[in-house]
Amino acid sequence: MTLADGMRMPVLGFGVYKVSDDDATPAVAEALAAGYRLVDTATLYGNEAGVGRAVRASGLERDEVFVTTKLWNDAHGDAAEAAFAASVERLGLGVPDLYLIHWPAPARDLYVPTWRTLLRLRDEGRVRSVGVSNFQPAHLRRIVEDSGEVPVVNQVELHPYLQQRELRALHGELGVVTQAWSPLGRGAVLADPVIGDIARTHGATPAQVVLRWHLDLGVAVIPKSVTPARIRENLGAADLELTEEDHERISALDRGERSGSDPDVVS
Ligand SMILES: NC(=O)c1ccc[n+]([C@@H]2O[C@H](COP(=O)([O-])OP(=O)(O)OC[C@H]3O[C@@H](n4cnc5c(N)ncnc54)[C@H](OP(=O)(O)O)[C@@H]3O)[C@@H](O)[C@H]2O)c1
Repeated sequence: MTLADGMRMPVLGFGVYKVSDDDATPAVAEALAAGYRLVDTATLYGNEAGVGRAVRASGLERDEVFVTTKLWNDAHGDAAEAAFAASVERLGLGVPDLYLIHWPAPARDLYVPTWRTLLRLRDEGRVRSVGVSNFQPAHLRRIVEDSGEVPVVNQVELHPYLQQRELRALHGELGVVTQAWSPLGRGAVLADPVIGDIARTHGATPAQVVLRWHLDLGVAVIPKSVTPARIRENLGAADLELTEEDHERISALDRGERSGSDPDVVS
């Protein structure tokens, strides 16, 4: 998809949360070989070096792989620029494609100046695009009003049990791409009987159904797996076609249920 700043980003990428630095290298290598062209890491994950190794060894040109990393909460404010430089160093891939503020951490109340720092890094050509993660409507509105610039992406928890309708509507108004983390609800939604039923009617898997649902909503996804067969399976979402009735049934599964933390309290 095309981002608000004109850059292009793959809609279906590969996440590596809770994958060790050593394990990240073979997992990312597998994903790139299968056809993924976006890798989502973060300072918090402790595997930027392992991701960088896999991308460098892949034989792909640097501009063929979109690499996202994120600024951790302890580096808001004055520490942001040094934290960014350390991520760049660990990745060893030159200019990263996308840098996100991982959480707004409202108790610290430093996300506004941190956002200004990210914009400056982008203007200096040190990162291609900048965005945010886990920003609630109030946090988003505040940085947009302060800077006059929208984050190109807001990466938030989103899956059939947490459909984020209000946030997606605001993203639509502002021109922010919604990118779903835990797009499979960390595996929980895959056991839902409705998802299973839809999967059976299409001869597809539950994960493919859920990922296709996201893509049909215009939401970018970054499913994580360290299992080669699942890494390939998840890419198969691209070939599936859901009906309007399938969409209505999945839409009815929303119950506002988070698998992760509440962005208003994380600091
Ligand atoms: N910005 C943020 O705050 C934030 C927070 C959380 C996550 N993220 C990003 O989002 C990515 C994805 O989220 P996530 O890792 O929390 O959850 P997820 O992608 O929804 O689910 C991952 C889990 O589902 C399993 N799985 C994957 N494909 C499957 C399939 N086809 N069939 C059955 N099970 C399958 C994986 O198992 P195996 O690995 O054992 O195969 C793993 O246990 C992360 O890796 C990270 O990059 C961002």
